[in-house]
Amino acid sequence: MAEKPVLWITRKLSDYTQARAARDYQLVLNPEDTLHTAETIIEMSHKVDGILPCHSEMFSADVVARLGNRTKIVANYSVGIDHCDLPAFQARGIRVTNTPDVLSDATAEVAMLLMLGAARRAVEGDRMVRDQKWTSWSPSFMVGQQVSGKRLGIIGMGRVGQIVAKRAQGFDMTVHYFNRHRLEPALEKNAIFHKDLHSMLAVSDFLSLNCPATEDTRGIMGPEAFSYLPDGAIMVNTARGALVDEEAFLAAITSGKLSAAGLDCFATEPGGNPKFARHDNIFMLPHIGSATQETRDAMGDRALDNLDAFFAGRTPVDLVA
Ligand code: DGY
Repeated sequence: MAEKPVLWITRKLSDYTQARAARDYQLVLNPEDTLHTAETIIEMSHKVDGILPCHSEMFSADVVARLGNRTKIVANYSVGIDHCDLPAFQARGIRVTNTPDVLSDATAEVAMLLMLGAARRAVEGDRMVRDQKWTSWSPSFMVGQQVSGKRLGIIGMGRVGQIVAKRAQGFDMTVHYFNRHRLEPALEKNAIFHKDLHSMLAVSDFLSLNCPATEDTRGIMGPEAFSYLPDGAIMVNTARGALVDEEAFLAAITSGKLSAAGLDCFATEPGGNPKFARHDNIFMLPHIGSATQETRDAMGDRALDNLDAFFAGRTPVDLVA
């Protein structure tokens, strides 16, 4: 029987995923779940046939150029691939895959949570009760904004964006979207397409960022884009921090252009932006859009399906390079 390929799983994954991987691969694991430096990634790549990393491992052009010849595939445990320099992988002939679809529901749930939490002042309310400072009630107390029936603009109507649209329509929101291409009517489901970003921002009481971070979208929410939003709009980001110019975002929060925001992604991760902590109208989570047990297991299955296909000589379904 042929030797099982050697696979490095860079971070601690669920017991279910690691047990499935152990069945078909010789594993190098990371039970302490430590973050890896570029040097470790390069060193390990000389010892393994495949790597199953997360978006926490950076594969810059320099790192990819120095990967060992033994590594033939990098099967990401993420849909986002902005941590991977794809042209550099192509130049090396190393295959790269991702895990689309399986995290769309979980991420859309967090987009709705952020919209609701930002609009209904979740940070202030939670802190007040927790700190035992809730001493009175009146009709003018903790009044927030209603989500139901409002206009939602979505940047990026891919898999996650489409589910956010569906969930928002459950709240009777009118959905507008800005996307590279208009969707087929069956997928568009009454959402209103905008070819022009600014025309969509102008009708976005709520704005949800759902596109990948690419050359075209980095900093898409900059000073000019914020100026097109209705005064008092609410923005949520479950995609990538790189989409937002964080100084322009802070200016919009400070001026009231944005009345609140919900962020699951930051320019600097882990850690986020300490300047945001002064603003109770920014509801923040630590990049947990896909963090449900069901989704974690499904991401593991998807990454392992891609690896299995590759090592069986087939084309992985989710090949991105
Ligand atoms: C993804 O899959 O891209 C999520 O952001 C988690 O890594």
